[in-house]
Amino acid sequence: MTVAYPRKPRNAMGAREILAQVVRDREIHLITLNRYRYSEQRSCKDLTDLIERLDGEPAELVRDLSRHISDEARHAMWLTDLLVDIGHNVGTPPGVSYIDEFDRLLDKEQYRNLDDGIIAALAAINVTEKRGCEYFSAHIHALKQAPQTDENIKIRETIEKIFPEEAGHVRWGNRWLGSIAAKSPEHRQKVEQAKRKYVAIEQAAFESGMDIMLGAELRRVTRLVDIANTMPMWERPQYLMERLPATLLAPDLQMTRVDVAQRAWNRDPQAFMEKLVPMFLNGLNTIEKKPATKPKA
Ligand SMILES: [Fe+2]
Ligand SMILES: [Fe+2]
Repeated sequence: MTVAYPRKPRNAMGAREILAQVVRDREIHLITLNRYRYSEQRSCKDLTDLIERLDGEPAELVRDLSRHISDEARHAMWLTDLLVDIGHNVGTPPGVSYIDEFDRLLDKEQYRNLDDGIIAALAAINVTEKRGCEYFSAHIHALKQAPQTDENIKIRETIEKIFPEEAGHVRWGNRWLGSIAAKSPEHRQKVEQAKRKYVAIEQAAFESGMDIMLGAELRRVTRLVDIANTMPMWERPQYLMERLPATLLAPDLQMTRVDVAQRAWNRDPQAFMEKLVPMFLNGLNTIEKKPATKPKA
């Protein structure tokens, strides 16, 4: 199955490198699985919202979405069973949530017609499903290289059940977007524009979950400008002004920093001073050396 993955964040590790690190640390590994569980569970709620907004039209899409929810609910169930069996907590994961950030960056505009709303929803679903596939595929790869403990085997078997269904969801989205684009040159243009916009939004949401170093707020503003640049000129100022305060103050980011710092400190105070503190400061150096990209007109 072929899935085109989103581009790698600037100066960041790719999914395979990240997951190779994640599976080496049991605590981080289980927290990551709980984040997957949370995302799967949340997507049931978001897809249900979409069905309610569609209000029965088109019936074919409502039917597909209801099947999609059933898949996502099963993924959440498998991951919840796994974590409860292992004895790990299944509470809301702490810190920056990828989904909440994605939601915050969406512009919940009133669509002029049903087609526009459907294109936006399908493009948004498609880009997050691609990210899921990228991570699950890298996770399976990492677990094949890791020590074959009973726990690791169980985790791999669970992700191996989920992964092909996520790849199916990507293909499903591609088919729907392709058939809408084939309706007319205007539809094709709308589909291409929506794809560009949601790729930028997803990239920003994803990077904000990864980037907790000093200066992250300013890098988030840069990504906000990247998103605005995919929109028509007249929509940009309002989009930016509505999101700038939360982007700069970023309380979720502060919470993640505190959580990461506490964990690292509790585990190994010496490593905290030697590794984590320079890492935070390094984030600051990066923005000093590399100023925010200028908006493209
Ligand atoms: Fe899923
Ligand atoms: Fe999915």
